[in-house]
Amino acid sequence: MKKTLLAAMLLGAMATPAMANLALAQKNNCLSCHSVDAKLVGPAYKDVAKKYAKDKGAEARLIAKVKAGGAGVWGQVPMPPNTQVSDADVKTLVKWILSLK
Ligand code: HEC
Repeated sequence: MKKTLLAAMLLGAMATPAMANLALAQKNNCLSCHSVDAKLVGPAYKDVAKKYAKDKGAEARLIAKVKAGGAGVWGQVPMPPNTQVSDADVKTLVKWILSLK
């Protein structure tokens, strides 16, 4: 009983920031083409994190890419420009994506 409660609390503490980021991705329509674990129209966010794990310039480049859209890195299907998403949201989303493991 106690253990279950502790586990639930731990899970809650871990889930909260991740869920806020997921909600932000949902709100900005990213999840219609992406998921964290699986390739949909676009690459899985975990694969993106893996690809750029050692790339210090990735954050700035991906922020620009998400805003402007583009193709050719993961395949021929382009990501359309996401001009409706605020700069702050794009930055939060890219930081989150790169932090996934
Ligand atoms: C209409 C579908 C679609 C939507 C909506 C979309 N994406 Fe993408 N995304 C793609 C595709 C397709 C690619 C692969 C592009 C390529 O191969 O260069 C991609 C690639 C990416 C990449 C990796 C880029 C690279 O150069 O490695 C990131 C990061 C990303 N998307 C984040 C986002 C975020 C954040 C949002 C929401 C604001 C979003 N995407 C919305 C389809 C989409």
